[in-house]
Amino acid sequence: MCGIFGYVGIKQNATQAVFDGLKRLDYRGYDSWGIGIIQGKEILVDKHVGIVDTASLKLPASSIAIGHTRWATNGAVTDANAHPHYASDKSFIVAHNGIAENFAERKTQLLKKGYKFISETDTEVIVHQVEEERKHTKTLAEAVRIAFKKFTGRNTIIVLSRDGQIIAARNGSPLVLGVADKLAEIYLSSDTLSFAPHVSHIIVLDNGQMISVLNKQINVSDIQTGEKVSYSLEKNTITDSGVDKSGYDHFMIKEIYEEPFVIDRIIEQPDKSYLALAKAIRQAAHVYCIGSGTAGAAAAQIAYYLRIFGKVPAVGLIGAEARDYFDLIGKDDLLIAPSQSGETADVLEVMETVKKNGTKIASFVNMPGSMMTRLSDYKFMAQAGPEICVMSTKIFVSQLAWGYLVAKAVEGNLNDGKEKLKGLSKNTDAFLHNKQKIAHIKSLAKTLARKPHIFLLGKGQNLQIIKEGMVKMIEGSYVHAHAMPAGDLKHFAITLMEPGMPVVFVLSNDFVKTDVLNALHEVNARGSQIVVVAPQPDESFDDYIEVPDLGEVSAVMNIVPLQLLAYYMAKSLGHNVDKPRNIAKSVTVK
Ligand code: G6P
Repeated sequence: MCGIFGYVGIKQNATQAVFDGLKRLDYRGYDSWGIGIIQGKEILVDKHVGIVDTASLKLPASSIAIGHTRWATNGAVTDANAHPHYASDKSFIVAHNGIAENFAERKTQLLKKGYKFISETDTEVIVHQVEEERKHTKTLAEAVRIAFKKFTGRNTIIVLSRDGQIIAARNGSPLVLGVADKLAEIYLSSDTLSFAPHVSHIIVLDNGQMISVLNKQINVSDIQTGEKVSYSLEKNTITDSGVDKSGYDHFMIKEIYEEPFVIDRIIEQPDKSYLALAKAIRQAAHVYCIGSGTAGAAAAQIAYYLRIFGKVPAVGLIGAEARDYFDLIGKDDLLIAPSQSGETADVLEVMETVKKNGTKIASFVNMPGSMMTRLSDYKFMAQAGPEICVMSTKIFVSQLAWGYLVAKAVEGNLNDGKEKLKGLSKNTDAFLHNKQKIAHIKSLAKTLARKPHIFLLGKGQNLQIIKEGMVKMIEGSYVHAHAMPAGDLKHFAITLMEPGMPVVFVLSNDFVKTDVLNALHEVNARGSQIVVVAPQPDESFDDYIEVPDLGEVSAVMNIVPLQLLAYYMAKSLGHNVDKPRNIAKSVTVK
């Protein structure tokens, strides 16, 4: 998803600082980029389709600059549509994250007034609207404020004006400021990680707030009223944002190998936080767990753990499909949201809506300073370190481990849960360092990657695991994978079971094992290729990945071989593993 970066200061060349910042934001996914700087009395802009690379950068050094990575929404991927966009007289430029939903009607008005458009973007409509407002306002900041209010949707913009001022307004995607050396250096960015090593303090802008930065002065104001609001400097706790591959071929595999570490972070969190949330869960009339994509699978698994261990009838929801619950989620209910970024628009919309009804919110987020954390009554941080690969792996494991522990706290067995997670961490580590197993998964991945269709079947604690296995295979390999409850197979998809069709089963030694084996035998009878992730072999398996029997936490262990399979499938196909085509890491638009 789009990224914004800005820098003003004397210590670094701003052009290079913004260029480096954009590179650190590039994990979010983008298709074009651009930088704007001030040189003398002029604003210079350089924009490109493709990756942020040094060879393309044709701008001189500067002390102030803004930049943008664009993930196309309105308008094709072209240099002209890349941001920043100039005002008609080139007195300021704008970069934008989000979708200005009513841009078409605004554009019609502005065209009537004679404004010319050189791009197809909604951003350029914002630019001209600011120019229009500027005719009646004392300052550019005021014009930005009034113009910004006229657009609907979730938007965040950054403006650089010829007089050396940076203005930014937020009503959607994140915007964080980083300051160093008593404001001698100021960074603005879509995430803290992109500037973390350089700053001592951060300021997180809330939705509905704007900021202007001029001559080392920072002003934060309310977009609705224009009134000044006080801001607080939060100490930056991230000194090393570790965005290198540490010798691994890809971030994805590095992050999978960090899974034992992320489980340990869950165990270390204070008991009192778990116990407070457990109490709220017990007191809630209804508990809803919500997420999108991989986090949606995690949310469903957390709901499963709450049902099984907490005996709470929790429901799993997908962010984009929760609208029909809006009138049902009320003040006595609790919403639980696991999210890597803490900024996913589909989930944020639900949170903002139910918060107005008085619903309590708990979140489990990895990215510091996120909107979800700010909206939450019970805030948990994954503390898993940056997850750079667009495909989420370690955060999924972290979300499951956290959800399991919360459910164990509701059950009244937090310590037992922690012990089980310690075992999980050790076993995951041993599995990842078992050379034979990894070699076997690699060779199996090569075979699976060439298949046009793959089925994944599971049940109970493994249902979301096969769904997430499917997500990883589709995302990385662009292979058609289909996960379904093992028990539902006989109701329709059994018609597709034919010789050679690969079917991956995930099963554990639990109360649904017999049901899964029944489905497995039905598939076996039709000659399909049966691949099984399980603690024991069976003669009906064509291929078998042995995992340790970890009882209650087996499901968390079982995702690891599926993630590895998906990684080696994508790799063997020569795909861009860390940035699969068309998808973004952080989806801050609806
Ligand atoms: C995007 C990513 C997914 C992620 C989902 C939710 O779709 O491609 O990998 O699971 O967003 O993101 P979140 O930040 O809320 O976990």
